[in-house]
Amino acid sequence: MQAQIGIHALGLAIPRRYVDMEALARARGVEPAKYTQGLGAREMAVAEPGEDTVALAALAARRALAASGIDRERLGLLIVGTETGVDHSKPVASFVHGLLGLPQAMRVYDTQHACYGGTAGVMAAVEWIASGAADGRVALVICADIARYGLRTPGEPTQGAGAVALVIANDPALLAIDVGVSGAASSHVHDFWRPLGRREAQVDGHYSVQCYLDAVSTAYRGWRRRAIDRGLIAATGGLASERLARLCYHVPFCRMARKAHVQVRRCDLEDAGAPWEAEVEDAAALVAHGVQVEPSLGLCARIGNIYTGSLYLGLAGLLDAQAGSLVGQRIGLFSYGSGCTSEFFSGVVAPDAAAQIAAANIAEILAARERITIPEYERIMVLPPTAPLVPWPSNASDAGDFRFVGVSNHQRQYAGR
Ligand code: CAA
Repeated sequence: MQAQIGIHALGLAIPRRYVDMEALARARGVEPAKYTQGLGAREMAVAEPGEDTVALAALAARRALAASGIDRERLGLLIVGTETGVDHSKPVASFVHGLLGLPQAMRVYDTQHACYGGTAGVMAAVEWIASGAADGRVALVICADIARYGLRTPGEPTQGAGAVALVIANDPALLAIDVGVSGAASSHVHDFWRPLGRREAQVDGHYSVQCYLDAVSTAYRGWRRRAIDRGLIAATGGLASERLARLCYHVPFCRMARKAHVQVRRCDLEDAGAPWEAEVEDAAALVAHGVQVEPSLGLCARIGNIYTGSLYLGLAGLLDAQAGSLVGQRIGLFSYGSGCTSEFFSGVVAPDAAAQIAAANIAEILAARERITIPEYERIMVLPPTAPLVPWPSNASDAGDFRFVGVSNHQRQYAGR
């Protein structure tokens, strides 16, 4: 039997400040239900300049390695998936490698394709191990980003920031990935992009939703065909997507996951020759969404979009809430990167998942945050990205974090403690 490969441990890092979405809606003269129900957002992480992509990535990685119990000398590969890097040439991965003092004898690089960059890293790591090239070593994949659309833009309530680091290894303690069983979909579209030199993304919001739905249809169908061929799910007797205990989608805002799930069910129905009756099916999809998707949205609703890490934030929230009851069950995962490329894949929850996810201390990390007012959020948003040298905030509770402290001789400087 082939050894299992997948996500062994996970570490989360988020900014220490957040805003309440009802307060943001009121400040923008918008009915709060539009943000809380229409988009599904409760809170949104706010990163200050010291909490840049590198600082968040390094903290998440340190936490993942601590939770993994794996000797860092076994690391052979470090990949950071990001679309908000800090240099045109030097990868975020290189900064993280230095900040954590990781072994010299390893491969270190970034991957980029909008929010898909993290999954590009996960797939490269899994296939590196499956090919035998890893030779017993393990990989660290970090998904880290700061999502910015700007004040008073339609995208404003879908911002966020954070990093999820994943240790990818044989005999994983969290999720064994179905290696080689995935479906991809790509198209050259301008739904969301960020021209060189700009901090804020450009986005054609409603078109981006449609691009996501087109992509999930093709990617899901590709996965479904391979999953049936490999005997992972039955070809007949009900909707194929209902064979998955849970589904985690890329979550730019929580309501997008519901739209995606309706689309996946529609693919199943139409491909089986059944008519799509919107009213009947929307009601059925709502029930299915409540069981199969909603449990993965708790963390996303409190942090916002973290781009590359968004899918894995959903996975972390799901396992934190339900790992004990999902052992041995298959979950589907959909990663979408604007531009666009995407992948639907799956994995089986490992027997030790509940104990392993507890080591990520997710509730404690969330509880350490500070809620800020809308004027304070607006002040932070217009700070220049090259932060002045500022002291650690007096309420900083994490003794293991990192901080961008400024630029010297064109080199970014970090403090860690
Ligand atoms: N009560 C309840 N619901 C309400 C409401 C109210 N008072 N008012 C409005 N709503 C609902 C609307 O009906 C709508 O729901 P449906 O889509 O289900 O109909 C929802 O709230 C949003 O309303 P609008 O469409 O009018 O909102 P908007 O025009 O301001 O823009 C957006 C929404 C397009 C998502 C915008 O926030 C945006 O551009 N966000 C950034 C782009 C994005 O996230 N795209 C997602 C796909 S691309 C991707 O996934 C990659 C990535 O990470 C960026």
